[in-house]
Amino acid sequence: MENLKGLKRTHYCGDLRIANVGEEVILNGWVQKKRNLGGLVFVDLRDIRGISQIIFDTNVSEEAFNKAEKLGSEYVVAVKGIVRERQSKNPNMPTGDIEIEATELRILSKSETPPIYIKDNDNVSEDLRLKYRFLDLRKPSMQRNLMIRSNVARIVRNYLTDNNFTEIETPFLIKPTPEGARDYLVPSRVNQGKFYALPQSPQLFKQLLMVSGMDRYFQIVKCFRDEDLRADRQPEFTQIDCEMSFVDEEDVMSIMEKMLQDIFKQTLNIDIELPLPRMTYKEAMERYGSDKPDTRFGLEFVNISDIVKECGFGVFANAASDENGSVRGINVKGGVEAFSKKGMKKLEEHAKTYKAKGLAWIKVTEEGIDSPIAKFFSEEEIKAILEKMEAESGDLLLFVADKNAVVYDALGQVRLEVGRKLDLMDKNKYNLLWVTEFPLFEKDEETGRMIAMHHPFTSPLDEDIDGLENEDKTNLRAKAYDIVLNGYEIGGGSVRISNSDVQKKMFKALGLSEEEANNKFGFLLEAFKYGVPPHAGLAFGFDRLIMLLTGADNIREVIAFPKNQNAIDPMTNAPALAEEAQLEELCIKVDVEEQE
Ligand code: AMO
Ligand code: AMP
Repeated sequence: MENLKGLKRTHYCGDLRIANVGEEVILNGWVQKKRNLGGLVFVDLRDIRGISQIIFDTNVSEEAFNKAEKLGSEYVVAVKGIVRERQSKNPNMPTGDIEIEATELRILSKSETPPIYIKDNDNVSEDLRLKYRFLDLRKPSMQRNLMIRSNVARIVRNYLTDNNFTEIETPFLIKPTPEGARDYLVPSRVNQGKFYALPQSPQLFKQLLMVSGMDRYFQIVKCFRDEDLRADRQPEFTQIDCEMSFVDEEDVMSIMEKMLQDIFKQTLNIDIELPLPRMTYKEAMERYGSDKPDTRFGLEFVNISDIVKECGFGVFANAASDENGSVRGINVKGGVEAFSKKGMKKLEEHAKTYKAKGLAWIKVTEEGIDSPIAKFFSEEEIKAILEKMEAESGDLLLFVADKNAVVYDALGQVRLEVGRKLDLMDKNKYNLLWVTEFPLFEKDEETGRMIAMHHPFTSPLDEDIDGLENEDKTNLRAKAYDIVLNGYEIGGGSVRISNSDVQKKMFKALGLSEEEANNKFGFLLEAFKYGVPPHAGLAFGFDRLIMLLTGADNIREVIAFPKNQNAIDPMTNAPALAEEAQLEELCIKVDVEEQE
């Protein structure tokens, strides 16, 4: 094999332009493609910045030509040559005006036939891509994603340090944090039988840093959560984690939205208008059925409970009369045309996967209305429904009747599905908004107990503090806010409790005894005895933000080495069995039926 000596690159493959014509250049890169046309060999040479076409001509250098004939895909080479204007220009390539007439070629490394094509939008399975991730990352789109990711990290660091934030690392081997997902545990060899937890977030440490007087903290940091995976979830993901002292929610929102403005301007050259729109949690649920509404399109919910309370359709009447239930609909403009019988059936199935018992519909046509439930309603009721939903000929009205939680979820998902089917989600639109006043508590479906919706250090709204002692705490609101982009929660945070009386009431409301609270968070409570500044913070999901900025359809596309949907890395085969000796040292017995 030959070496690089004397042939180190003078230019990147992707950078050569018509202005370089006549220059002698040296390129280093990978062979993307080779065509042999008798006395001429054409090679597309690729590096991180793009592709240039090289010509090997027997009349220019027989030695280089002979070597070029032997090149294969993904060989690594160094080429010296003269830049020429191309006769047949390729307007689809940035370097399409030029080519390089090679005078020297060195083969630095050969390649076996790669198991996947190094080409964007190739239809290979994701597991194969992940198995050969080092090759997959040679694709221009993947390299672009990682470069945008790096660029955003730089913008974030610059912005936050310019605003007096200090970047501080916090430990990975810790006691469990209160984010509410499952922990990844790490056994301790030195302290047998004991375990560290990997942080679900640096939450408690960043609060301690406020007690320490660090004033403004940030960290671009890995977080670990053992939860069921989805397109926008990974077991280890990255946060832009921030905390500030002597501030309230207005300060946090204002400084963070300015950072987003910077990011959008510098990456996509898009001007984001500030202040960002805000919506309370209640309003988001009632209008979109979601606490992370995609506001790029309408199809907003209409509550028709009042109209159908006494109608002849039991399902509707019952839900409408239930204190915690309702009947809500969306008006799909022009939906009669857009949805066939089969399409409607699919929508109903979709609603049912989100626990709806059905998806009632009314088609509004020139001839009148068409609906399986029309027979249950009086003429006045129908008229009132059409009026309230502003229905016109051609519209399709869709309804779900149930407990509110089911109505919101199922109809909200139907709304998104209709949005996707009718192409209502404009890819060039970036709708950012704050969702505020989240509920302080939610009910744990398994145990029926109240749990903190955010975490137990989140402050209630001032006017809701007294309510901590109420029997029914479901209506209490928190000083918590999420930042939402096109239907994704890209960040969330809150004002923390810095008053020990309120904190005590909060633990009590959560059913935590003083002893339990001390056991879990004693170090934080101890710290809070010695002068704690009012503080608040927020964490962005960095991967999600990059996914949306790059237009990728899942977060694995913006992470160099992600896990697949089963939390497995097909390249390294992690997780794997541990060595017997390691387990013994850790006093761990593995009790699994079938071990492969
Ligand atoms: P939260 O739990 O809302 O808040 O997390 C902050 C943001 O992190 C992203 N995120 C994830 N991204 C990918 N994969 C996951 N499994 C995953 N889980 C969360 C989301 C989310 O908005 N300590 C608090 C923040 C604070 O209060 O300051 C926290 O972690 O985009
Ligand atoms: P059924 O009387 O069960 O055949 O239902 C008549 C129509 O009402 C069907 O289109 C069902 O999809 C719909 N439907 C049934 N239950 C509900 C519900 N809880 N909410 C909305 N639509 C429903």
